[in-house]
Amino acid sequence: MIAITCNEDLRLLAQRRVPRAIFDYVDRGSYDEATLRANRADLDAIKLRQRVMIDVSKRSLAAGFVGQPSTMPVALAPTGLGGILHADGEIHAARAALAFGVPYTLSTLSICSLEAVRAAVQKPFWFQLYVMRDRDFAASLIERAKAAQCSALVLTADLQIQGQRHRDIKNGLSVPPRLTLANALDIAGKPQWALAMLRTKHRNFGNLIGHLKVKQDLTTLAQWIASQFDPTLSWKDVAWVRSLWPGKLIVKGILDATDAQYAADAGADAIVVSNHGGRQLDGAPSTIAALPHIVATVGDRIEVLFDGGVRSGQDVFKALALGARGVMIGKAFMYGLGALGEAGVTRALELIRNELDVSMALTGTCDVRDIGRHALWTNA
Ligand SMILES: Cc1cc2nc3c(=O)[nH]c(=O)nc-3n(C[C@H](O)[C@H](O)[C@H](O)COP(=O)(O)O)c2cc1C
Repeated sequence: MIAITCNEDLRLLAQRRVPRAIFDYVDRGSYDEATLRANRADLDAIKLRQRVMIDVSKRSLAAGFVGQPSTMPVALAPTGLGGILHADGEIHAARAALAFGVPYTLSTLSICSLEAVRAAVQKPFWFQLYVMRDRDFAASLIERAKAAQCSALVLTADLQIQGQRHRDIKNGLSVPPRLTLANALDIAGKPQWALAMLRTKHRNFGNLIGHLKVKQDLTTLAQWIASQFDPTLSWKDVAWVRSLWPGKLIVKGILDATDAQYAADAGADAIVVSNHGGRQLDGAPSTIAALPHIVATVGDRIEVLFDGGVRSGQDVFKALALGARGVMIGKAFMYGLGALGEAGVTRALELIRNELDVSMALTGTCDVRDIGRHALWTNA
């Protein structure tokens, strides 16, 4: 196997190992994918300021999120269906993140349940909540997150209605998968993936199964989810969640400074500047373009985290330089998971850590907390 030297290597390996419909589910964005592309292009356009002859022999990447220590300012973003990308995927990803010393966020729409992940790891993780129409179910998820000793609740605000990913429809990515000849041939070409999926007992929406008064087969649960995203959601619901959850609350999916202020008013401890990785409102700006104004507006009231397009330590550096306190990665770790399971997620994190560390050294930065706008190049 060739040496894995960058996140793109993990992406290409995942593409070879995972059925195409599932790889595309991870890789692609909504509609014309303009926002998906902007997330990457706008990060690429930012340049770092090279500095020399500064003693950078002692460097520290240690950081913290919502008062919790982390070995670097990077956390794993919530991602649904991790357990179909790789058998027991959420358990693998959680183990890798927590061993690395960075937060892991379990999605409401995970395959492995809150309880299964809790039983498999020694340290607390974060739980991401979709507030569904069925508020009793949402409240019960919060109780289960408390029972699992989750150390933060991440409330996702940008999915009141689902954006469309053309590829998912064309590929027949439904739950359960639509068995077309193309899908069958594709799966037959991915025997390692298929065998592992046959062996695991986690093949359904783990947080839903056994907790709803509907039929428990995959099709019914998938239909239930689709009918449960709630266009009526408002800041009142955030206040309601706040009243039920005494721990750290992070509101994810903020792209506008006014919304950031409302999140702070609702009692959130942090926000994630996010456009769902270009999977929701196509035509929205990149998150890196939106970040500075949001930091300027609420940065003194609330912790501002960031995600969208981050594939390298250099990208993490740029987001920190523009005021983010920490960065979440979605696709970057999912590629690792699809490529090599737990080892692939660890590799994704190692690559980012090494790139961030070298970028710090070459910009004359010894402490990750000192990264600021001064570390970006301007043509002045
Ligand atoms: C495959 C996939 C599934 C996702 N599922 C969820 C989810 O269940 N809940 C959520 O809040 N965000 C979800 N997201 C969005 C991520 O949390 C994050 O905002 C996004 O991936 C960041 O962009 P990046 O992938 O470029 O790093 C998902 C993203 C991907 C790629």
